[in-house]
Parts: sequence; structure tokens; C-alpha cells
Amino acid sequence: MQHKVIVNTKRELFPTAEDLYGLFFEDINRAGDGGMYPEMIRNRSFEDSLVPAGCTTDAEQKIYVNRGGWPGAFNHGEGMDDWAEKVPYTEIPGWYSENADMKLDQTDTLNEKRACALEVCFKPSGKIWNIGYAGVPIRTGEHADFYLFVKTEAEFCLKVSLEDAAGRVYAAEEKEIMPAEAYQRIDYRLTADGECFDGRLVLTADREVQILIGFTSLMPADTYMGHGLRKDLVEMLAGLHPKFMRFPGGCIVEGLSKETAMRFSNTIGPVWERPSHQLMWHYRTTNGLGFHEYLQLCEDLQIAAMYVCNCGMTCQARCSELFEPDLVQEYLQEALDAIEYATGSAETKFGAIRAKMGHPEPFALKYVEIGNENWGPAYEERYQLFYETIKARYPELILISNAHTEKKGLPTEYADEHYYSAPEFFLENDTMFDRYDRQGPKIFLGEYAVNGGKTIASMECAMAEAVFLTGVEKNQDIVKLSAYAPLFQNSDYTAWKPNLIVFDNHQVYGIPSYHVISLFGKYRGAQVVETRTETEYRPPRYQGIPGILCEKPGLRMKNVKINGEAAAISRTIYGDWEESDGVYTMKRGENRHAFTGKSDAWNQAFAAFMNRRRRPQGMPDIHDFMWVTFGQTDLEAYTFEADLKFDAENAVTMSIWNFHPDTDAGCSEPRDTDWNLQSVRNQIWRIENGEGATEFRPFFNSDRPQPKRVQLQIDYTKFNHYKIVAKPGSYACYINGELVQEKKLAVHPLIYAAASTEKEQVLLKLINVSENSVETEVELDCDILPKVRMETIAAALDAVNDMENKERVAAREQVLENGGRRFTVELAPHSVNVLAAVKR
Ligand code: AHR
Repeated sequence: MQHKVIVNTKRELFPTAEDLYGLFFEDINRAGDGGMYPEMIRNRSFEDSLVPAGCTTDAEQKIYVNRGGWPGAFNHGEGMDDWAEKVPYTEIPGWYSENADMKLDQTDTLNEKRACALEVCFKPSGKIWNIGYAGVPIRTGEHADFYLFVKTEAEFCLKVSLEDAAGRVYAAEEKEIMPAEAYQRIDYRLTADGECFDGRLVLTADREVQILIGFTSLMPADTYMGHGLRKDLVEMLAGLHPKFMRFPGGCIVEGLSKETAMRFSNTIGPVWERPSHQLMWHYRTTNGLGFHEYLQLCEDLQIAAMYVCNCGMTCQARCSELFEPDLVQEYLQEALDAIEYATGSAETKFGAIRAKMGHPEPFALKYVEIGNENWGPAYEERYQLFYETIKARYPELILISNAHTEKKGLPTEYADEHYYSAPEFFLENDTMFDRYDRQGPKIFLGEYAVNGGKTIASMECAMAEAVFLTGVEKNQDIVKLSAYAPLFQNSDYTAWKPNLIVFDNHQVYGIPSYHVISLFGKYRGAQVVETRTETEYRPPRYQGIPGILCEKPGLRMKNVKINGEAAAISRTIYGDWEESDGVYTMKRGENRHAFTGKSDAWNQAFAAFMNRRRRPQGMPDIHDFMWVTFGQTDLEAYTFEADLKFDAENAVTMSIWNFHPDTDAGCSEPRDTDWNLQSVRNQIWRIENGEGATEFRPFFNSDRPQPKRVQLQIDYTKFNHYKIVAKPGSYACYINGELVQEKKLAVHPLIYAAASTEKEQVLLKLINVSENSVETEVELDCDILPKVRMETIAAALDAVNDMENKERVAAREQVLENGGRRFTVELAPHSVNVLAAVKR
């Protein structure tokens, strides 16, 4: 077929959204300390092993548990299990000693904000060292600035050096330290004469001495615009052509407990006076990357700042604590103080603190989001209070709601929507925003990413997101902001996958989605213009193995066949079964849904927690289901049949294309199994009480329409023959040889397009989701120069970037020579393309 994209540049629909592409920075995966905030000492305040406030731990301190019972990996402050397994054990995370004793002192700390100090008793040739975040990076000729606050009753000489594990010294400085009653700050500058990325910072005393260290820091001297952030990482951010940044979270804004919820006031002032606190991504922050630093970064990148404030509740996904009215008021005051800090004159209380921090002029704060991922009546009440108070004082600020609070009659300027799903969700929802109410709030696509499916951080994910973004671009009258999430991943410490930018202590790369967003951010245009696409439509191509699931025990199955061949159970996902004379009988199973986190302590605590927590309102608990699969080979087209006998009220589901998802994807909290209902691509046939449906009923959201059901003729007293015939794009369901139900999958185009114009240019985004290259005719209603710049990201679906090949999937540029009112362009298989044509 002839594929054609018609661009009506004369049909200007609406202006492009000023801030459409932005950043969402959250301190997750050690994105902050040891990441964009390039502190090289891990546990610089010695507080990492303190039990997170508002939580308890098990005897071995493997996990913490918040007041609601939600458990998380702790490992006495090392954090994630993967990480804790990798580093040599030490009581004080990050710190090691030789001929020296170390212990925490919680009485004589540097100041009232510091919860402890490190007491060190140096013996002869005594030294202590810190191994940083998977090694202290040392580079030839580069300066690093070290300081410590130290208290000593005796004079001694302290040598500070950068070394490798074998003792090779790359940089060193010695300073004589005099006795003093108070803590004193001593500064060092270290200039390395070699390179080592697995280095350590070593402190050596020249004699026996007992000292207290109140706080330490080792930072590179060369940072982005001299403002203290890691250069290469911020340059990656700039490479995305962002227009705004949302900060500081994310779930970390909400916190695990009242005490660990984000407070603006803890993140300003001298860093050694900023209290540290536990983040829910299993490590502690010293808050060096604080409110001022975020605002400064926005200013340096010339982008709008979006502050997310806690609105008086902790994370609803992790057993929320609702703050009492006084504390809600305190948090409201925190939000107001933060806004004053950013925007008030140097004469205001908080503006004056900002001025003291070196920024007398106000920062440009444009957006404030009230809470993160909060919902329901408790949120609505708090939202209203925050909205009305902030709006009354700062009418110029754009306020963002976490939910569609307009449906509750509340003023809602922007609603923040989050989408994490499999590629097909994004492929199938390019028109989602077309159906939104134009009178409703503007939409902030605050977090999105493909994080399900067979591949992860791949071209397949990037391409699906690009398709979704063409839908966003075509709806810029209401979708005003978007941000991929999460942004950063320290590859040595991953609490969530995928992430847009991956780094270690000295290198960085962007996943394929990074390159797509960078491309889309680069070519914006001023007016969205009409495009029309004439192309082939196809259903998604699904492959997998079949399965059978029941919600109550007692289902009996025999004569199970795939393509006419007898098939045995290949996997028990939930529950258990027994077999007798070729008949399987499903029964409940003990611990079938074993959790797949790392440490047993975490898994067991998680299992106990999940088992305690039952679905509300009599909803079935998925862990009570029984679910088995048949066969091993992923198939697209096949016949699956079985004789089944079950009670009418036992809902039995034949699941069609079950597949093994990428188990690394998503949040690293323990999962109940690495096969889950999302790995059925929601293609099922569910039979309950004599009715059949090809969709699951909504488990969680009762607002969603119930799936359509058809009446079936089933004699429940006997075995009946059930058959599914699956083929590309559809499946048919039979009972006792009679066709009773059919499902056709929604088709989608092979080519997606979105276009915009600006004075001189026509910008056209074209995505080819097919496995073949597609010759596409572009038809324009204006003249253009023959030379058309084209940037293309194309790769196999499973192609990824990594440290060895950082730009395997990245944009490549070419110049077409055949531009005109009609011209053809060859779109590579699985490709995301932008054409920039110059108007004549
Ligand atoms: O982006 C990772 C997390 O996903 C964010 O913290 C949260 O807002 C969402 O649940």
C-alpha cells in the first residue's frame, strides 16, 4: 500500500505548549548524593545506619518497617540488598579502618541538626577510609575539595589522601590540627596525578589520638557553572532541551513516615546544618541537594521550576499516615516559606536566607504541585486548603493537582497524570487526549515510561513512548507539560528500572527513550498544524503461551491440548494442583506466590504484609487465585483446548498470550512472582456464572466500566470442552464446538505523524512501528527547499544502550535532497524520525 502523510501547514490548530518537554528529578537510585550532587564520600554525616524515623527494624536491621507495616530493605543503612551484598561489611556504612577504632557518638555532635558524630581512636599508623559510591573517582590533574569538622583535645597531623586499594597515593595533603574545645573546619585541596575510579579517601593520623568528626565532604572543584553539580550529568539534562523541572519527587516528597516526609526547611542553609533523613528508595540523604540547588539548576538550564510540596500525608502506596491538622498547617507554612524563599525579595524572611546563600535576586518559580500521587477525600481536603491559601497569596503561580479534583468541584488548573505500562498501552493510546474535555484542566503528563513487556529500556519502549508523544503533541491545547520518569539511575544502586539516564561514578549514557525525548524537545515549532495519515492498520503482534486461572479451588481439567498435541502444566504461577488419572484439580497452595526481592527478611516481611492486607469490599485477592500455564514456546497463532468442570460461581479464565516480563523492570520492591497478570497483555476469556467476558473486571477502580459479558450455555454438572483459537489480531472462544465469543484486537497505524511550523520551518515527526522500512509520501500545502534535514533513531526492538556502547541507539542525521510539495521518504524499520524542512 502507498503510505502517505498530508501536512496542512495552513491549518494552524493551536500554539505549541511553551513548556511541553521537561524533567522530573527525584532522588531515587542514588540520583542525588553520589550522583548529580557529586559528593564522593558516602555517609558523610555518619548517620546512614540510624533507624529511619517513624520506623522500626528487625533484630538484624535487614529491613525497616513503617507504622503501617510497609517493609523496605535497610541492611543497617547500606540500603538495597543488591548493594549490601556487594560491599564489604562495616558497621558504619562507607567507612573502614585499620589500626583505628570507630564508633558513633550521638551526644557531642557538630550542631543540633546532626544526629551523630564519628569518634575515631587512631592507634600507631592508624587510618580510616571511605570507599564512596562504588569507589571514589580520581582523575589526573583534577582538583577535589575536602573538608571535615573535627574536635580534638590533642594536637596531631592529619593526612588526607586519595588512594587505590593497593595503597598507591594519587593526591595527599597534610595539616596540623590544634586542640580546641569546639569543632573546627579544616579544608584540603587534593590534586590527583593519576586516574582510578575505584579509589578511596584516606585519613591518617601521625600519632595516637582520639577525635570526633562531625561532618565531612569531598567534592570535585569543577562543577556545572560552578554551582556544585556534576557536569556531565547536567550536560545530559541540557541535551534533552527541557523547559521545566519538577522536583524533588515523587514518593520521596510523601515519605515513609511523618518524620521522613520532605520539609523544605531541612534543605536550605549550610549543608552541615541540614538534617538528613531516610528516603523511601532505601538510603539516607544529607539534603545537600536542596531547594536552593534545584532552583539554581533551573536557572542555569534556563528552565521553569516546579516545586512539589507535601500536603500533609505520607505515601498512599506505602500505608499512608494522615497528618493531624496542626501538622498539616505546618506543612502548609513550609510550602509558603518555600515559595517565599524562591520568589520573595531579599527583604523577606526567606528571601533574605536566599540572598545569604548568594542569590539576592528571586528565582523564577512557575509551578507548584500540591502533593505527589495523592488521591481520595483526605487529599481533596488538603488540596483545597493548600490551593486556596497559596493562590490567594501567589495568584501568578500555576498550581497542579495530583488528581482530577475538578470532578469534585475543586478549582483545578493542571491535573498530573502518571502512566507506567507495557508498550502496547502507549501504542494504543496515541489518541487518548483527543477525547479529553477542552473545558477541563490542563494536563501534566507528570510521569510516564514503558516499564512492562518483554524488553526494557529498549528501542521498543522508546518507540512506543514516541507514538504516545505524537498524541501529546497533537493535543498541546490541553497537554501542556510532560516528563519521563524516573530521570537518573546510578548503575551501582538501582531501586527502579528503567530510568532515562544511567551513570556510574565517572560515565553516563541515555537509554533510547532519552534520545527520542531529546529529539522531540529539539524540534518544537510554534504552531501545531493538521496532519492526516493514510497508511496500513494492523493489530499488535502478541506472542506467548496459554494458561488457565481460577478464583476458587475445585476446577478440574483434562485433555489439555495445544495445536492438537497433549500439553502438560508448564508453570504454576499461583496456587497448587493435584493430578490423578489425567485430571488436574486446582487447589489453594502454600506460598506459591513467593516474593522475589533479594533478602529473605525483606521477602518474608513483604509476604506477611501482603497476606495481612486483603482487598477491600470483598474484592478477590489475586494471591488467592490459582493459575497455571501450558507449553513452553511462545506462539502467536494456536489452538488451545481443554475439558473443564467447575462451579458456576468459580470464575475461570483462559489466558491467551502469557509471557515472561522483564523481571528487572519497575520498582525493586519484592514482587509476588515474576509472571503476573500484566504478562497476559490483558487478553483473556473469563467465565463466571454462565457469562463470558474478554476483559477482566476492574479490580481496583470501580469507576471503570464493567466489561461486556455474553450469556453462555454451560451444563456445570459435567466436563465441557473449551477452546480458544488465537491468531494475529483476534481470538475466538468455543464451548463444545460452538463459537460463543470473539475478540478482535484494536488495530493501529504503521505510521504515526505530528507536525508543527514556525516562521521558516515545517517540522514533521514520523514514526514507523513496522518491522519493514516504509516508503512514505509526504504531501505539503507549501513550498519547501529541496534540502530537508532528517534525524532518525532506528534499531531492533530489543536494542539497548549501555556503558560499552552508549549511543548504539541514538539519532543519526542525513539530508534529503528531494524536498518539495510532494516527496518520498524512506522510514527505517522501527524508527522515530524528525524532518525539518525550510519554507521557500
Ligand atoms: O518515578 C518513580 C516513582 O513513581 C515516583 O516516585 C512516584 O511518583 C511514582 O510512583
